[in-house]
Amino acid sequence: MSVPKYITLAGGDKMPRLGFGTWQASESEVEDAVTAALEAGYRHIDTAAAYENEKAIGRALNRWIGNDPDRRKELFVVTKLPPSGNSVKHVEEFFAASLANLGLEYLDLYLIHTPFGFEYVPGDLHPKNPDGSMKFDFTTDLMAVWKELIKIKESGRVRHIGVSNMNEEQINRFTKLYKPECLQIEINVTCQQTSLVAEAKRLGIPVVAYSPLGSRAMAQVLAAKTGREYPNLLELPEVKSIATAHSRSSAQILLRYLLQCGVAAIPKSTSPKRIKENISVWDLELSDSEMAALRALDRGDDGRICDFSFFPGVEKHPEFPFKRH
Ligand code: A2P
Repeated sequence: MSVPKYITLAGGDKMPRLGFGTWQASESEVEDAVTAALEAGYRHIDTAAAYENEKAIGRALNRWIGNDPDRRKELFVVTKLPPSGNSVKHVEEFFAASLANLGLEYLDLYLIHTPFGFEYVPGDLHPKNPDGSMKFDFTTDLMAVWKELIKIKESGRVRHIGVSNMNEEQINRFTKLYKPECLQIEINVTCQQTSLVAEAKRLGIPVVAYSPLGSRAMAQVLAAKTGREYPNLLELPEVKSIATAHSRSSAQILLRYLLQCGVAAIPKSTSPKRIKENISVWDLELSDSEMAALRALDRGDDGRICDFSFFPGVEKHPEFPFKRH
C-alpha cells in the first residue's frame, strides 16, 4: 500500500505526513534536534507555547531559512494556544508571542491545545494552587476562543487553524461554526482512537497522531505517580516480531502502521540517529495480516498515556474531553 507523503489541507496547502514532535524536548536540546530533523528531511515541525521551547526552535528554523523565502514556504510550522490562553482576552497575546518566539511572520497551523483552560497568570503557563492542584478556569468558552482563532486566520498570520485533544462532541461543536482544518490527538498502537478518527474522517478533518511511539519518558513519569502500568510499545512482542521480519526497528513499524492507517504522525526524538530512523519509513510496507496484528493491540481508553492526570483536578473541568473514571 503506497502512502502519499502529504495530506492536502483546505485551500490546497500540503502538510507532510511525517512531522517532527518536540513535546518533552527541552529548550537546551531542541535547537540541535530541530537542526538534525531539518537535515534529515523533516519539513513539518510541531511545537506548543506550553512546551516552552519555541525560542530555540525558532533559532534552528531561522538559521535553516536564512534569506531564502522559498525555504520558509517548504516548512509547515505548527504551534498551539496554551490552556492559559483559552479565553477571548488572551488569544491574540499568546498567538503574537508564539510568532515572535519562533521568529516567523506567519504560522502554517495554530491549534487550540486543550479544551480546558487555566487561569491567566502572567509568566506562568502552569499555575498551581498551594495544594498542588492546577488553577483551572472553569468558565472556558471554547466557541468564543475558536472565533478568535478564526479572526487570526482572517488576518493572514496563520494559514490554517485547528484543535487538539478534543472529543467527538467538541469537534462537532467546532464544526458547526467553522470546520477545524486539523485535529491533533494521541494515537499509537495501544490507543488507536478508532471512533474519533472515523468521526474526523466523516467530517473531512485531517488527523495528526502525537505520542506515536508511546512517549516513553512521560509514561514512566505517570507510572511512578499513578501506579498504572504503561506497556513499552517498542518492546511489545507483536511489534518486535514484525520489526524482525522486515529488518527494521520497532519505532519504524509503529510509525508505518499509523501512516498506513491514514493519519499523520509527529515522533519526537533528540537523537540524530533516531531522528533519521523515524523518517525512513517510506520504503517499508506492512501486509494486511501485519496491519491486523497491530490493530489488535488497541486497548481503547485504557491505552491512553496523555490523560492529563499530570494536571491534578482536570477531570472536574466541564470541558474535560475523556471519560471520567
Ligand atoms: P529520544 O528523544 O531519546 O530519541 P513519542 O514520539 O511517542 O512522544 O516518543 C518519544 C520517545 O521515544 C522519546 O523518549 C524518544 O527518545 C523515543 N524515541 C524516539 N525515536 C525512537 C526510536 N527510533 N527508537 C527508540 N526510541 C525512540
